[in-house]
Amino acid sequence: MDIGIAYDLVSDFDRQPGEPADSLAEYDSEETVAALEAALRGAGHRARRLGGGRHFLDAMLAGPPDLVFNLAEGRGGRAREAQVPAVCEMLGVPCTHSDALTMAVTLDKAAAKRLVRSAGVPTPDFEVLDAPGPVGLEFPVVAKPVHEGSSMGIGARSLVRRPADLPEVVTELRERYRQPVLVEEFCPGAELTVGIFGTGECARPLAVMEVAPQRRPLEAFLYSGQVKHDWEVEVTYHVPPRAAPAIAARAEEVALAAYRALGCQDVARIDLRVDRRGEPAFLEANPLPGLHPVVSDLAMMARPLGIGYDDLVLRILACARERLDV
Ligand SMILES: Nc1ncnc2c1ncn2[C@@H]1O[C@H](COP(=O)(O)OP(=O)(O)O)[C@@H](O)[C@H]1O
Ligand SMILES: [Mg+2]
Repeated sequence: MDIGIAYDLVSDFDRQPGEPADSLAEYDSEETVAALEAALRGAGHRARRLGGGRHFLDAMLAGPPDLVFNLAEGRGGRAREAQVPAVCEMLGVPCTHSDALTMAVTLDKAAAKRLVRSAGVPTPDFEVLDAPGPVGLEFPVVAKPVHEGSSMGIGARSLVRRPADLPEVVTELRERYRQPVLVEEFCPGAELTVGIFGTGECARPLAVMEVAPQRRPLEAFLYSGQVKHDWEVEVTYHVPPRAAPAIAARAEEVALAAYRALGCQDVARIDLRVDRRGEPAFLEANPLPGLHPVVSDLAMMARPLGIGYDDLVLRILACARERLDV
């Protein structure tokens, strides 16, 4: 099959004056695109690069593929991840991963939390602040930009223990990221991420992975950009998780319910953390989970199960083809 890969590379963009240092953190590396291309070609497909933005549009108009394999994070506001699926829908070209609505709703963490909560999925209490002000939440809280990913804006200062310290953190995030700030009650327990494949009633968890801090206690841990960068010394990854089997089973249940409530398709990773009552709670959904062959969370959780990178890619493709009947 003729498969076009949609992607945005870090090297495609220049950081604009005034943009925060981590503003390009979500974009892919050449290694990821090359590995994906190799996996698709290895299975006998014709794989070609469509790129992102205008290149993607030009390539789609010049010669649409049979299917788009989507890695593109998009560029712009809180609906940027919806750009590629929206164009594919407009042109009638089948596309892997979730559709435009799910992509947009999950990038806005508050919108995603409202949706999953309405489906009965536990998620920490939260408020969205457009300016510093009092919150009716139990401290400590975590403050983060409402529509970013890849730990953008999450650092040592994001964990706020005293109400008096919150206004300064909110002001700083508001100014740096130019968007409202999500303030959420802190979950001090295990950090869990759940990979899920499939669509609707056929969706199934692949694995639960626990990310265990090595250098600080869980009560002071955030899986921040710095921790992700220094992962070799900061954390260890556990599949199956070290958490009790009942917690792992509950994590799968919560993640699957969130996945379905958000209408995710083909694949996603759902981030959870055990809250102060000891229950896994929904933090956010990643319907475009990183696909780096070595260091992406999805590749890391698949490896101990004996699922190699190519296998992982072909599973996503198989889910999409089944859903789309192509
Ligand atoms: N309410 C919270 N309680 C505990 N930890 C949190 C909370 N919100 C975020 N974190 C920490 O910050 C990390 C990144 O936050 P997350 O909401 O997953 O955003 P993203 O991965 O899109 O940057 C989480 O993996 C977790 O370690
Ligand atoms: Mg996350």
